[in-house]
Amino acid sequence: MTEEIVLNVKNIEKSFTGTKALKGVEFSLRKGEIHALVGENGAGKTTLMNIISGVFKPDAGEIYINGQKVEINSPYEAQKYNISFVHQEVALCDTVTVAENIFMPAINQSRSFTVNFKKLNVMAKEILEPLADIKPDKLVSDLSMSHHQIIEIARALSLNCKILILDEPTSALSESESKALFKILHELKARGISIIYISHRMGEVFSECDRVTVLRDGNYLGTYNIKDVDRRQIVNKMVGREIDDTYPSKSTEPDSLKEILFEVEDLTGDKFKDISFKLYKGEVLGIAGLIGSGRSELAQAICGFGQVKKGKVHYKGKEIKLNASAESIEKGIVYLTEDRKIDGLFLDLSIMQNISAMDISKISGKLLISKKLEEDQANYYVKTFNIKSRNINQIVRSLSGGNQQKVLFSKILSINPKIIFMDEPTRGIDVGAKAEIYKLIRELVGNGIGIVFISSELPEIVGMSDRVIVMHEGEKSGEITGKDINEKEIIHLASGIVKN
Ligand SMILES: Nc1ncnc2c1ncn2[C@@H]1O[C@H](COP(=O)(O)OP(=O)(O)OP(=O)(O)O)[C@@H](O)[C@H]1O
Ligand SMILES: [Mg+2]
Repeated sequence: MTEEIVLNVKNIEKSFTGTKALKGVEFSLRKGEIHALVGENGAGKTTLMNIISGVFKPDAGEIYINGQKVEINSPYEAQKYNISFVHQEVALCDTVTVAENIFMPAINQSRSFTVNFKKLNVMAKEILEPLADIKPDKLVSDLSMSHHQIIEIARALSLNCKILILDEPTSALSESESKALFKILHELKARGISIIYISHRMGEVFSECDRVTVLRDGNYLGTYNIKDVDRRQIVNKMVGREIDDTYPSKSTEPDSLKEILFEVEDLTGDKFKDISFKLYKGEVLGIAGLIGSGRSELAQAICGFGQVKKGKVHYKGKEIKLNASAESIEKGIVYLTEDRKIDGLFLDLSIMQNISAMDISKISGKLLISKKLEEDQANYYVKTFNIKSRNINQIVRSLSGGNQQKVLFSKILSINPKIIFMDEPTRGIDVGAKAEIYKLIRELVGNGIGIVFISSELPEIVGMSDRVIVMHEGEKSGEITGKDINEKEIIHLASGIVKN
């Protein structure tokens, strides 16, 4: 890393109707550094990057590239300055192949009309290979959420950029994919490329980045060399108060004393095979595994959203059918989706309408929806999770990513579930709110709920689970309990090297 500044922004202001998103923000980026940008949900990180990459125009402020004052009026102009932006919300074209998605902007840029698809596939393979095992000729609609994210990253890498912006790129990636990504980022850095890295994962910020800039509530709080600060200092700057970012203590009861709430026997679907497990009342059961190991498909099938070829599910000792999701909801079995954009939220409805969406019958008493109850409930969750918004009538699409996730969480909790399958529940959520959610999960299980907790973030699985099932290529490769739960053991089982 040199002291040479490639990008400098000063006094950036940006307002949306009713929200001042950025208030005199500055930011400078050196050649060949990985610069972390951190802050709570709604702090203004994505907005600042949207300005640098020409998506939004700032209300005021200046942008300098290599010392020259510039105006960046569109993403296309940003590309001309060699700025590439991997967005927080993945936006791929579903109906074409992986390779076409990766090279779409590059083809655009070259203004060439003939495309050699064979060559495209070979080039895509070269970029993808170090990241993950994804076939370039596959249709994007057939791939998982995390693979979508990897394709977005590959697309940015194809553009030969000098400034690479990554907005929470690892939020859907597991340990090994994240490691592969960092290896590539370090190679880019060695080639003099500068990287802006937005993340809520403090571990990564401290192990992989050179400097960190903190935003709070649209204000610039400062930029620090990672080696001069510690995690607590940065977290305190982000949230403006001391927070306890340790995990709440786990359930102390031995399994044998517990009541079985739910049992899965030899369940087999398209992407998982012969899965059996029990879920006890009052426990958090973690499900770990690499991307593509079948965790989400299993949870979706159990909650009635996926195909089951064989196997049984028992709830409180009785066999239940898996095909009716309304019935599952009635029983209190709910799935918190990993993909809030596609099937989690109604983006064009308000916070309040989303929170009460699953719960019309309870709220209405009879048929008429009680506005007052609906409002009270929405206000309660907005306060509990500190959902940053103008009011409960704000449209969900205009909330920051993490705040949307909090709305999704509220929607699920509003029906008083008995069993929750949580698929990446803290995805994109800031450290303060994460701590709140961990506490809440413990409270829920303390009241007798059973929680199945799927996460790609290993420290979270280890910190939260009473028991962990590990999956590998659709099969259960092991189960660990209590004190035996640690990252090393999980990685071992997830890689499929051993079976126990
Ligand atoms: N298009 C928009 N219309 C209205 N308000 C917006 C819009 N985009 C962002 N905002 C508001 O600007 C503020 C900053 O949002 P931004 O998305 O930059 O936050 P963030 O730091 O990226 O948060 P997260 O960690 O949750 O992604 C939020 O209060 C958000 O609601
Ligand atoms: Mg954001």
